[in-house]
Amino acid sequence: MRPTNLKTAIFLDGGDPGETRELIGLLGFLDGQTTNPTLISKNPEARKRLDRGEKFTEEEIYRFYKDVVREISSLMPSGSISIEVYADPSTTTGQMLKTGRDMFTWIPNAHIKFPSSKEGLKAAEQAVKEGLRVNLTLCFSQEQAAAVYAATSGAKRGDVFVSPFIGRLDDRGENGMDVIANIIKMFREGDGHVLVLTASVRKFDHLMFALYLGSDIITAPYGLLKEWGRKGLSMPGKDYVYDRGNLKVIPYRDFDLRKNRQEYDVGHDLTVTGMEKFSADWNSLIKK
Ligand code: E4P
Repeated sequence: MRPTNLKTAIFLDGGDPGETRELIGLLGFLDGQTTNPTLISKNPEARKRLDRGEKFTEEEIYRFYKDVVREISSLMPSGSISIEVYADPSTTTGQMLKTGRDMFTWIPNAHIKFPSSKEGLKAAEQAVKEGLRVNLTLCFSQEQAAAVYAATSGAKRGDVFVSPFIGRLDDRGENGMDVIANIIKMFREGDGHVLVLTASVRKFDHLMFALYLGSDIITAPYGLLKEWGRKGLSMPGKDYVYDRGNLKVIPYRDFDLRKNRQEYDVGHDLTVTGMEKFSADWNSLIKK
Protein backbone atom coordinates (compact mmCIF):
# COMPACT_ATOMS: atom_id res chain seq x y z
CA MET A 1 0.00 0.00 0.00
CA ARG A 2 1.12 3.52 -0.75
CA PRO A 3 2.57 5.17 2.40
CA THR A 4 0.31 8.07 3.44
CA ASN A 5 3.27 10.46 3.67
CA LEU A 6 4.54 9.57 0.16
CA LYS A 7 4.08 12.67 -2.01
CA THR A 8 6.51 11.58 -4.75
CA ALA A 9 5.21 9.62 -7.74
CA ILE A 10 7.02 6.29 -8.12
CA PHE A 11 7.81 5.06 -11.63
CA LEU A 12 9.42 1.85 -12.80
CA ASP A 13 12.42 2.28 -15.10
CA GLY A 14 12.19 -0.67 -17.46
CA GLY A 15 11.12 -2.18 -20.74
CA ASP A 16 9.48 -5.43 -19.62
CA PRO A 17 5.72 -5.40 -18.85
CA GLY A 18 6.24 -8.60 -16.81
CA GLU A 19 8.18 -6.54 -14.26
CA THR A 20 5.46 -3.89 -14.23
CA ARG A 21 2.80 -6.50 -13.45
CA GLU A 22 4.90 -8.05 -10.70
CA LEU A 23 5.73 -4.75 -9.03
CA ILE A 24 2.14 -3.55 -8.99
CA GLY A 25 1.36 -6.76 -7.12
CA LEU A 26 4.29 -6.35 -4.78
CA LEU A 27 4.04 -2.64 -3.96
CA GLY A 28 0.28 -2.34 -4.29
CA PHE A 29 0.68 0.67 -6.59
CA LEU A 30 2.86 2.19 -9.32
CA ASP A 31 2.41 5.69 -10.75
CA GLY A 32 4.08 5.28 -14.12
CA GLN A 33 7.01 3.94 -16.12
CA THR A 34 9.96 5.24 -18.06
CA THR A 35 11.36 3.35 -21.04
CA ASN A 36 14.34 4.04 -23.27
CA PRO A 37 16.03 2.33 -26.26
CA THR A 38 18.52 0.46 -24.04
CA LEU A 39 15.72 -0.90 -21.85
CA ILE A 40 13.74 -1.99 -24.93
CA SER A 41 16.85 -3.77 -26.23
CA LYS A 42 16.90 -5.73 -22.94
CA ASN A 43 13.23 -6.77 -23.13
CA PRO A 44 13.12 -10.60 -22.77
CA GLU A 45 11.04 -11.12 -25.96
CA ALA A 46 13.46 -8.96 -27.94
CA ARG A 47 16.41 -10.88 -26.46
CA LYS A 48 14.86 -14.26 -27.40
CA ARG A 49 14.42 -13.09 -30.94
CA LEU A 50 17.96 -11.76 -31.18
CA ASP A 51 19.34 -14.96 -29.66
CA ARG A 52 17.70 -16.83 -32.55
CA GLY A 53 19.70 -14.55 -34.81
CA GLU A 54 16.57 -12.68 -36.00
CA LYS A 55 16.92 -8.92 -35.95
CA PHE A 56 13.98 -6.56 -36.54
CA THR A 57 13.23 -4.42 -39.55
CA GLU A 58 12.81 -0.74 -38.69
CA GLU A 59 9.04 -1.09 -38.99
CA GLU A 60 9.02 -4.21 -36.79
CA ILE A 61 11.03 -2.62 -33.99
CA TYR A 62 8.70 0.38 -33.79
CA ARG A 63 5.74 -2.04 -33.78
CA PHE A 64 7.44 -4.01 -31.00
CA TYR A 65 8.08 -0.85 -28.91
CA LYS A 66 4.45 0.18 -29.45
CA ASP A 67 3.16 -3.24 -28.27
CA VAL A 68 5.38 -3.08 -25.17
CA VAL A 69 4.17 0.39 -24.14
CA ARG A 70 0.56 -0.54 -24.92
CA GLU A 71 0.80 -3.48 -22.54
CA ILE A 72 2.40 -1.29 -19.86
CA SER A 73 -0.23 1.39 -20.40
CA SER A 74 -3.04 -1.15 -19.98
CA LEU A 75 -1.55 -2.07 -16.57
CA MET A 76 -1.41 1.60 -15.50
CA PRO A 77 -4.16 3.41 -17.44
CA SER A 78 -4.00 6.44 -15.15
CA GLY A 79 -0.19 6.49 -14.88
CA SER A 80 2.30 8.16 -17.18
CA ILE A 81 4.41 6.13 -19.61
CA SER A 82 7.52 7.73 -21.11
CA ILE A 83 8.44 6.72 -24.67
CA GLU A 84 11.78 7.88 -26.08
CA VAL A 85 12.38 9.16 -29.60
CA TYR A 86 15.36 7.96 -31.61
CA ALA A 87 18.02 10.62 -31.31
CA ASP A 88 21.67 10.27 -32.19
CA PRO A 89 23.86 13.39 -32.13
CA SER A 90 23.04 14.11 -35.79
CA THR A 91 19.25 13.65 -35.55
CA THR A 92 17.46 16.88 -36.42
CA THR A 93 14.70 18.62 -34.51
CA GLY A 94 12.29 17.80 -37.34
CA GLN A 95 13.10 14.08 -37.24
CA MET A 96 12.66 13.95 -33.44
CA LEU A 97 9.34 15.77 -33.70
CA LYS A 98 8.05 13.45 -36.41
CA THR A 99 8.83 10.36 -34.29
CA GLY A 100 7.49 12.00 -31.13
CA ARG A 101 4.17 12.95 -32.73
CA ASP A 102 3.67 9.38 -33.90
CA MET A 103 4.64 7.85 -30.53
CA PHE A 104 2.22 10.18 -28.75
CA THR A 105 -0.67 8.47 -30.60
CA TRP A 106 0.37 5.00 -29.37
CA ILE A 107 -1.24 5.29 -25.92
CA PRO A 108 -3.44 7.87 -24.15
CA ASN A 109 -0.99 8.42 -21.26
CA ALA A 110 2.34 9.04 -23.01
CA HIS A 111 5.11 11.50 -22.19
CA ILE A 112 7.54 11.76 -25.09
CA LYS A 113 11.22 11.75 -24.21
CA PHE A 114 13.46 14.19 -26.06
CA PRO A 115 17.15 14.65 -25.17
CA SER A 116 18.16 17.82 -23.27
CA SER A 117 20.30 18.87 -26.24
CA LYS A 118 19.80 21.97 -28.36
CA GLU A 119 17.80 20.05 -31.00
CA GLY A 120 15.87 18.06 -28.37
CA LEU A 121 14.85 21.22 -26.52
CA LYS A 122 13.72 22.83 -29.74
CA ALA A 123 11.64 19.75 -30.51
CA ALA A 124 10.13 19.80 -27.01
CA GLU A 125 9.30 23.49 -27.32
CA GLN A 126 7.31 22.82 -30.48
CA ALA A 127 5.84 19.57 -29.11
CA VAL A 128 4.27 21.26 -26.07
CA LYS A 129 2.79 23.93 -28.36
CA GLU A 130 1.10 21.07 -30.23
CA GLY A 131 -0.28 19.63 -26.96
CA LEU A 132 2.18 16.77 -26.46
CA ARG A 133 3.37 15.87 -22.98
CA VAL A 134 7.15 15.68 -22.81
CA ASN A 135 9.99 14.33 -20.68
CA LEU A 136 13.40 15.96 -21.24
CA THR A 137 15.86 13.17 -20.72
CA LEU A 138 19.68 12.99 -20.47
CA CYS A 139 19.76 16.11 -18.28
CA PHE A 140 23.01 16.48 -16.37
CA SER A 141 23.07 20.11 -15.29
CA GLN A 142 21.03 22.76 -13.55
CA GLU A 143 21.41 24.96 -16.63
CA GLN A 144 19.86 22.30 -18.90
CA ALA A 145 16.90 22.16 -16.48
CA ALA A 146 16.58 25.96 -16.65
CA ALA A 147 16.45 25.65 -20.44
CA VAL A 148 13.72 22.98 -20.16
CA TYR A 149 11.74 25.42 -18.01
CA ALA A 150 12.15 28.19 -20.59
CA ALA A 151 11.43 26.00 -23.62
CA THR A 152 8.16 24.75 -22.16
CA SER A 153 6.88 27.90 -20.47
CA GLY A 154 3.10 28.09 -20.52
CA ALA A 155 2.68 24.30 -20.39
CA LYS A 156 0.32 22.79 -17.84
CA ARG A 157 1.84 21.35 -14.64
CA GLY A 158 2.29 17.61 -15.17
CA ASP A 159 2.77 17.90 -18.94
CA VAL A 160 6.54 18.46 -18.66
CA PHE A 161 9.13 16.38 -16.84
CA VAL A 162 12.88 16.94 -16.65
CA SER A 163 14.97 13.85 -15.95
CA PRO A 164 18.35 14.53 -14.31
CA PHE A 165 20.51 11.38 -14.50
CA ILE A 166 22.22 11.01 -11.15
CA GLY A 167 23.90 7.60 -11.48
CA ARG A 168 25.86 8.60 -14.57
CA LEU A 169 27.24 11.68 -12.76
CA ASP A 170 28.17 9.53 -9.76
CA ASP A 171 29.92 7.12 -12.17
CA ARG A 172 32.41 9.83 -13.00
CA GLY A 173 32.94 11.07 -9.48
CA GLU A 174 30.42 13.94 -9.36
CA ASN A 175 27.62 14.02 -6.81
CA GLY A 176 24.54 13.48 -8.99
CA MET A 177 22.18 14.10 -6.08
CA ASP A 178 23.42 17.72 -5.94
CA VAL A 179 21.84 18.30 -9.36
CA ILE A 180 18.47 17.12 -8.03
CA ALA A 181 18.74 19.35 -4.95
CA ASN A 182 19.87 22.33 -7.05
CA ILE A 183 17.09 21.99 -9.63
CA ILE A 184 14.40 21.61 -6.95
CA LYS A 185 15.76 24.74 -5.24
CA MET A 186 15.89 26.69 -8.54
CA PHE A 187 12.34 25.68 -9.50
CA ARG A 188 11.02 27.10 -6.21
CA GLU A 189 11.46 30.48 -7.92
CA GLY A 190 9.33 29.35 -10.87
CA ASP A 191 5.67 28.61 -11.58
CA GLY A 192 5.95 24.85 -10.98
CA HIS A 193 5.12 23.77 -14.52
CA VAL A 194 8.13 21.41 -14.81
CA LEU A 195 8.20 18.29 -12.62
CA VAL A 196 11.56 16.92 -11.49
CA LEU A 197 11.93 13.22 -12.32
CA THR A 198 14.96 11.70 -10.59
CA ALA A 199 16.45 9.19 -13.06
CA SER A 200 19.44 6.89 -13.38
CA VAL A 201 18.81 5.76 -9.81
CA ARG A 202 21.29 3.04 -8.89
CA LYS A 203 21.18 2.54 -5.13
CA PHE A 204 18.78 2.59 -2.24
CA ASP A 205 20.21 5.84 -0.85
CA HIS A 206 19.50 7.59 -4.18
CA LEU A 207 15.87 6.64 -3.69
CA MET A 208 15.82 7.72 -0.04
CA PHE A 209 17.49 11.07 -0.66
CA ALA A 210 15.28 11.87 -3.66
CA LEU A 211 12.25 11.16 -1.45
CA TYR A 212 13.74 13.32 1.29
CA LEU A 213 14.32 16.20 -1.14
CA GLY A 214 10.74 15.97 -2.40
CA SER A 215 11.50 15.10 -6.03
CA ASP A 216 8.14 15.14 -7.85
CA ILE A 217 8.82 11.75 -9.45
CA ILE A 218 11.45 9.03 -9.06
CA THR A 219 12.03 6.30 -11.61
CA ALA A 220 13.92 3.29 -10.36
CA PRO A 221 14.77 -0.15 -11.72
CA TYR A 222 12.82 -3.27 -10.81
CA GLY A 223 15.45 -4.64 -8.38
CA LEU A 224 15.56 -1.45 -6.35
CA LEU A 225 11.78 -1.08 -6.13
CA LYS A 226 11.55 -4.72 -5.11
CA GLU A 227 14.09 -4.02 -2.34
CA TRP A 228 12.01 -1.01 -1.26
CA GLY A 229 8.93 -3.26 -1.14
CA ARG A 230 10.80 -5.81 0.96
CA LYS A 231 11.79 -3.00 3.34
CA GLY A 232 8.12 -2.14 3.83
CA LEU A 233 8.18 0.97 1.54
CA SER A 234 10.28 2.75 4.16
CA MET A 235 10.47 6.53 4.05
CA PRO A 236 13.42 8.75 5.07
CA GLY A 237 13.06 10.40 8.45
CA LYS A 238 13.35 14.18 9.01
CA ASP A 239 16.92 13.63 10.19
CA TYR A 240 17.95 11.66 7.09
CA VAL A 241 21.47 12.48 5.89
CA TYR A 242 22.79 11.43 2.47
CA ASP A 243 26.39 10.26 2.50
CA ARG A 244 28.02 11.48 -0.70
CA GLY A 245 31.28 9.70 0.11
CA ASN A 246 34.09 11.00 -2.07
CA LEU A 247 31.84 12.40 -4.80
CA LYS A 248 32.65 15.95 -5.87
CA VAL A 249 30.11 18.62 -4.88
CA ILE A 250 28.20 20.26 -7.75
CA PRO A 251 27.52 23.78 -6.48
CA TYR A 252 24.22 25.67 -6.84
CA ARG A 253 24.20 28.41 -9.49
CA ASP A 254 21.81 31.32 -9.87
CA PHE A 255 19.83 31.27 -13.12
CA ASP A 256 17.14 33.68 -14.17
CA LEU A 257 14.24 31.46 -15.24
CA ARG A 258 12.70 34.26 -17.32
CA LYS A 259 15.30 33.98 -20.08
CA ASN A 260 14.70 32.37 -23.49
CA ARG A 261 15.73 28.77 -24.13
CA GLN A 262 18.47 29.90 -26.54
CA GLU A 263 20.21 31.95 -23.82
CA TYR A 264 21.20 28.90 -21.78
CA ASP A 265 24.25 26.75 -22.46
CA VAL A 266 22.81 23.25 -22.76
CA GLY A 267 25.99 21.55 -23.98
CA HIS A 268 27.00 18.55 -21.87
CA ASP A 269 29.30 15.71 -22.89
CA LEU A 270 27.21 13.13 -21.02
CA THR A 271 24.15 14.15 -23.04
CA VAL A 272 26.10 13.45 -26.23
CA THR A 273 27.50 10.10 -25.04
CA GLY A 274 24.04 9.19 -23.74
CA MET A 275 22.51 9.82 -27.18
CA GLU A 276 25.28 7.78 -28.79
CA LYS A 277 24.64 4.83 -26.47
CA PHE A 278 20.83 4.90 -26.75
CA SER A 279 20.98 5.08 -30.55
CA ALA A 280 23.63 2.33 -30.76
CA ASP A 281 21.48 0.02 -28.58
CA TRP A 282 18.45 0.75 -30.76
CA ASN A 283 20.39 0.20 -34.00
CA SER A 284 21.76 -3.10 -32.66
CA LEU A 285 18.18 -4.45 -32.87
CA ILE A 286 17.75 -3.59 -36.55
CA LYS A 287 18.72 -5.61 -39.64
CA LYS A 288 21.13 -3.68 -41.82
C1 E4P B 1 15.04 6.97 -17.28
O1 E4P B 1 14.20 7.69 -17.82
C2 E4P B 1 16.41 6.85 -17.75
O2 E4P B 1 16.44 6.53 -19.11
C3 E4P B 1 17.18 5.84 -16.92
O3 E4P B 1 16.91 6.07 -15.56
C4 E4P B 1 18.66 5.83 -17.21
O4 E4P B 1 19.33 5.01 -16.27
P1 E4P B 1 20.83 4.51 -16.47
O5 E4P B 1 21.75 5.69 -16.34
O6 E4P B 1 21.01 3.52 -15.38
O7 E4P B 1 20.92 3.92 -17.85
